[in-house]
Amino acid sequence: MPHRRRRRPRPSRRRPATPSRPPPGPDERRRAAGGCSSAPPGGRARRRVGAERGGGFELRDGELYAEGVPLATIAERYGTPCYVYSRAALEGAWRSLDAALAGVPHLLCYAMKANANLAVLDVFARLGSGFDIVSGGELARVVAAGGDPGRTVFSGVGKSAAEMRQALDAGILCFNVESAAELERLDAVARERGRVAPVSFRVNPDVDPKTHPYISTGLKESKFGIAYGDALPLYRRARAMPGIAIRGIDIHIGSQITDLAPYREAARKVLDLVDRLAGEGIRLEHVDLGGGLGIRYRDETPLPVDEYAAMLRGLFEGRAEKLVLEPGRWLVADAGVLLTRVEYLKPGPAKHFAIVDAAMNDLLRPALYDAWHGVDPVRPRAGPGSRWEIVGPVCESADFLAHDRVLDLEPGDLLAIRTAGAYAMAMSSNYNARPRAAEVMVDGDRAHLVRRRETASELHAAESTLAR
Ligand code: LLP
Repeated sequence: MPHRRRRRPRPSRRRPATPSRPPPGPDERRRAAGGCSSAPPGGRARRRVGAERGGGFELRDGELYAEGVPLATIAERYGTPCYVYSRAALEGAWRSLDAALAGVPHLLCYAMKANANLAVLDVFARLGSGFDIVSGGELARVVAAGGDPGRTVFSGVGKSAAEMRQALDAGILCFNVESAAELERLDAVARERGRVAPVSFRVNPDVDPKTHPYISTGLKESKFGIAYGDALPLYRRARAMPGIAIRGIDIHIGSQITDLAPYREAARKVLDLVDRLAGEGIRLEHVDLGGGLGIRYRDETPLPVDEYAAMLRGLFEGRAEKLVLEPGRWLVADAGVLLTRVEYLKPGPAKHFAIVDAAMNDLLRPALYDAWHGVDPVRPRAGPGSRWEIVGPVCESADFLAHDRVLDLEPGDLLAIRTAGAYAMAMSSNYNARPRAAEVMVDGDRAHLVRRRETASELHAAESTLAR
């Protein structure tokens, strides 16, 4: 199935601005406070909502569905807050990237840090995906989900000796080594285990990906990768190490990239190194260009996947090395929503707060990066609405999910926080002793509970009080 994103006409660069409205008047306040609503019942017309972000969620007969299941049914059955994923959207995204690269020998290694739920991994493993991991815990998840360690690359600057042993025993495809010190440790661990570790060096190409500074990784000031100028000498050293087998080279310059130029510049720099290595008789099997493909949360213009693929095709035409990619966000972000219920409406003198049952512990991105996520009512009303701050119950002023959204709300309403398939549940915590949200995957007309809600007592089950 082609990804929905590809069927849509290319959107304009900017969304129409949110209508500027004065603060709510008394009528609006009454309605906002749960008073009588003049909203007409939901229309019968079938209309796409959030179509520009798309992927498995649409308005049907006046209510939001995940594939064939009303989100309201999921909320009733499993409670809120709850993450809901669309299997079709996950598969559609993976297949469209894979298809765009047809003709270029490649391996997609899903960067599972974006969403490591076993059901999500299972969906990708069944498609033949590889995985990009950054910890022993993630490797254990790949194995538990039926993924192939032989298609798994291990990224990250701080691999422990125990993680190296675990990955060697599992038979991973490659360690993406990020420093000389890590190389030495890996050589020692592999020899002690009687194995040879397959490695790639993550090179820092010193290219600005023009994205949020927290998710920019390819500049020389960054902790990631081996300085460009140090790469050749390190390959030469590695060649002589008995515990090391040189397999590839990799880069990852950042995340949420919407510009082709930094990708091209970084890829050219890395391919230049590959050729210089070949000149010294060090032939690589693969070139891993990392992840980072951006998506639309609000008004970004993502790179069309075909343009990205065309660039890669141009660069890899006639080359012997296999292309490896580590996409995370692009595969999963649009395929998930965070379903939450309005607990209270609290109109105020300066701002009006809609207090919902999801919080910054469930979705950290707004608090951490000031990230914007769409907020759609599950059963939209036709009223003009008011401006709301969408906030959670956590005792922090940073506990907001969205600012200044014009919505016609009543207590008890369900909201879908959009584009929440990536770096959402994966970054959640138990702050304020809040059990983490349930996760549901919809597959056609069926909803599967793929992670049940934690219970409060589970949260402290591993702790103990002082002996008395
Ligand atoms: N490969 C490596 C080595 C990475 O560090 C990352 C992401 C990826 C691949 C996947 O990048 P993607 O395709 O998802 O852009 N928490 C942040 C994003 C952090 C990304 C970290 N590294 C957010 O919520 O925006």
